[in-house]
Amino acid sequence: MHPASNLWSLVLLILMGSELTQVLPTNPEESWQVYSSAQDNKGRCICTVVAPQQTMCSRDARTKQLRQLLEKVQNMTQSIQVLDQRTQRDLQYVEKMEIQLRGLEIKFRQVEENHKQNIAKQYKAFKAKMEELRPLIPVLEEYKADAKLVMQFKEEVQNLTSVLNELQEEMGAYDYEELQSRVSDLEWRLRACMQKLACGKLTGISDPVTIKTSGSRFGSWMTDPLAPEEDTRVWYMDGYHNNRFVREYKSMLDFMTSDNFTSHRLPHPWSGTGQVVYNGSIYFNKFQSHIIIKFDFKTSSISKSRPLDHAGYNNMYHYAWGGHSDIDLMVDEGGLWAVYATNHNAGNIVVSKLNPNTLQVIKSWSTNHPKRSAGEAFMICGTLYVTNGYTGGTKIYYAFHTNSSTYEYIDIPFQTTYSHISMLDYNPKDRALYSWNNGHQVLYNVTLFHVIRSDE
Ligand SMILES: *[C@@H]1O[C@H](CO)[C@@H](O)[C@H](O)[C@H]1NC(C)=O
Ligand SMILES: *[C@@H]1O[C@H](CO)[C@@H](O)[C@H](O)[C@H]1NC(C)=O
Ligand SMILES: *[C@@H]1O[C@H](CO)[C@@H](O)[C@H](O)[C@H]1NC(C)=O
Ligand SMILES: *[C@@H]1O[C@H](CO)[C@@H](O)[C@H](O)[C@H]1NC(C)=O
Ligand SMILES: *[C@@H]1O[C@H](CO)[C@@H](O)[C@H](O)[C@H]1NC(C)=O
Ligand SMILES: *[C@@H]1O[C@H](CO)[C@@H](O)[C@H](O)[C@H]1NC(C)=O
Repeated sequence: MHPASNLWSLVLLILMGSELTQVLPTNPEESWQVYSSAQDNKGRCICTVVAPQQTMCSRDARTKQLRQLLEKVQNMTQSIQVLDQRTQRDLQYVEKMEIQLRGLEIKFRQVEENHKQNIAKQYKAFKAKMEELRPLIPVLEEYKADAKLVMQFKEEVQNLTSVLNELQEEMGAYDYEELQSRVSDLEWRLRACMQKLACGKLTGISDPVTIKTSGSRFGSWMTDPLAPEEDTRVWYMDGYHNNRFVREYKSMLDFMTSDNFTSHRLPHPWSGTGQVVYNGSIYFNKFQSHIIIKFDFKTSSISKSRPLDHAGYNNMYHYAWGGHSDIDLMVDEGGLWAVYATNHNAGNIVVSKLNPNTLQVIKSWSTNHPKRSAGEAFMICGTLYVTNGYTGGTKIYYAFHTNSSTYEYIDIPFQTTYSHISMLDYNPKDRALYSWNNGHQVLYNVTLFHVIRSDE
């Protein structure tokens, strides 16, 4: 199977003219059109751009829009480079692992040859380990093909850029406005496509990096995954109750090197450590209630507040460490989620996708994992990952896939240098886990294997 038929090939098309009017709903003669589906029927991510019919592109109008579109696409190219770097980073990991695997295989063969001299039990354990690792080899091969696709995608966008350049030259320069929304639509859809491109299954967690040592034993800290690239403001909440002051640090560097921050006073104290900052607002669970509040930092006001129906609260269904951690809010590539438990689901974890504006539940999934025996939980690419505890020897051991409503037991160890973990959340922008680890603010990188589907 050729790698280009894999899930992650992303197709960008520029269609000139109006032959496609029957297929495409609006008038391509009038303006730029952007069509996109997250996935076509072959599982590929598709973005289609239809340019206005050339005769209709009167000299007056569209050049400025075009220039802006061009700039957006150039900006996209930068984003792709970031994605590419990340892929390269994962690739290095994969290559290292591959060498290890192959080394192990050779060693294994040697051991097999001399196995009479070895203790039978040791030999068996070794063999079992090898059997466990062997299926990874084809995955590694596919992963490398995947990285190649990112390169192809990059090239396609570069081609798109040069086409746009040519168009711009043909048209001369004037006015814009009207295509503004289509341009940002294009940008948004391209980003959505790219995030899917970057999605995958968690296979590893790096060693932790301690960013700062501050605050009490319990708390949470984060950056906004929707903030622009240059905005690295850090949000910091010490304690799990009786506090309503959120600290804002100007940048990650400021957070690491100084104690210079601005304080935001929330209208109500929070409960637990499940807060999340998303698109300029903090979402938190109001203390001693199952109410979720969206508080806009810019206007310093509540923009929405709504009870999370049936959710246990007030230490009814906390995580294993307690601390009123009944309702955990989080964000992944797909948006805003709430993780909690209900009587109806017998105290097992319920995952709900929330509308970030109305706070209404869009869809819920009932898992079979008791909330109170979960250490912590976070979402990556629509999959919920649960740890087995919150102190030493912690690992991710349970995964629930919302795409298929299925679960599996997994075994992904990670280091908890300072023992007690009271917060662990994924940030899809950095592809990192943010953790509050006994008064230490800690980061982990994650390795995601892309899900590769081929249409044989
Ligand atoms: C492209 O990125 C630059 C720098 O990040 C920014 O100033 C500019 O506004 C962006 N252009 C568009 C059209 O988004
Ligand atoms: C980009 O354009 C070049 C030259 O026109 C072409 O050789 C190449 O195949 C194109 N790449 C893609 C991915 O379309
Ligand atoms: C759901 O997602 C998981 C993890 O990303 C993946 O392993 C699985 O194949 C997906 N299932 C479906 C039906 O797409
Ligand atoms: C602290 O931040 C304020 C506002 O951002 C700034 O004016 C001040 O110089 C900073 N102080 C230090 C010591 O960095
Ligand atoms: C983020 O907020 C801005 C307004 O502040 C809004 O226009 C935009 O749609 C929001 N983005 C998402 C993904 O919710
Ligand atoms: C994550 O990876 C990036 C890029 O390789 C690196 O700069 C950063 O320090 C890493 N962070 C952690 C927590 O390991």
